[in-house]
Amino acid sequence: MIQPIFHFFDSVGSTNDIAIKMARDGAPEGTVIVADQQTSGRGRRGRVWLNEPGMSVQESIILRPPVGVSELPQVGFVAAVGCADFLAEQGLEARLKWPNDVLVGNKKIAGILVEIALSDKVSAAVVGIGVNVNHLSFSPELEDIATSIAMLTGKTNCARTLAESLGHHVLRAYDRYLAMGFVDTLNNWQTRMWGCGEQVEINMERRTICGVINGVDNTGALIVRDAKGSAHAIHAGDTIKTTRN
Ligand code: BTN
Repeated sequence: MIQPIFHFFDSVGSTNDIAIKMARDGAPEGTVIVADQQTSGRGRRGRVWLNEPGMSVQESIILRPPVGVSELPQVGFVAAVGCADFLAEQGLEARLKWPNDVLVGNKKIAGILVEIALSDKVSAAVVGIGVNVNHLSFSPELEDIATSIAMLTGKTNCARTLAESLGHHVLRAYDRYLAMGFVDTLNNWQTRMWGCGEQVEINMERRTICGVINGVDNTGALIVRDAKGSAHAIHAGDTIKTTRN
């Protein structure tokens, strides 16, 4: 069992940056960086990850799975499963939206950003997780798409305490991934998958695909079947649910 080693900070730029530096300097896997506030937190695809002190969990976990660099992003699925287990402990049933979003009741409650720390000798994955904890409302741009633990349970929580619990759950999911393999993680992930069988639009860097989600393949790519019946394996993109034609 890998035990978490927590490092708590009041305010940092990004917990991922600290974790990447520590991973390059040889920090062991299971090292968890937690911050009450991030001044330049980032999300997927270069987006800003906003936060106010004490309102959310923001943490980054160093993992060193025995796989090639191209397979390190597998730990994003591991973290999503761990995050869903953590939310279940809060009485919430999470849905996992490909690739790395965690939803409750169709609204995003957590996001995951996997980054790779490379140095001459080692490679590691840094899994950054942000969870909305104590928000009682969101700005007009976010109110239809975001939610928090407090909004769903009516209870506020100490973000640091929840960060510890989340770290334990992710490392438990990681232990299982090491023991049982990635396909087992994917099977677990798919039991909680959001949008399977639904009509979606996938926005990728250079193009958009419309079709119905069929699940994920054994590499974690999203399988979407278009109107002509062709299956597409998608490795990176944003998914938007659309209405059926
Ligand atoms: C996303 O949904 O786009 C991913 C959001 C990831 C945010 C977390 S908060 C902790 C860690 N540090 C960062 O700068 N980002 C991640």
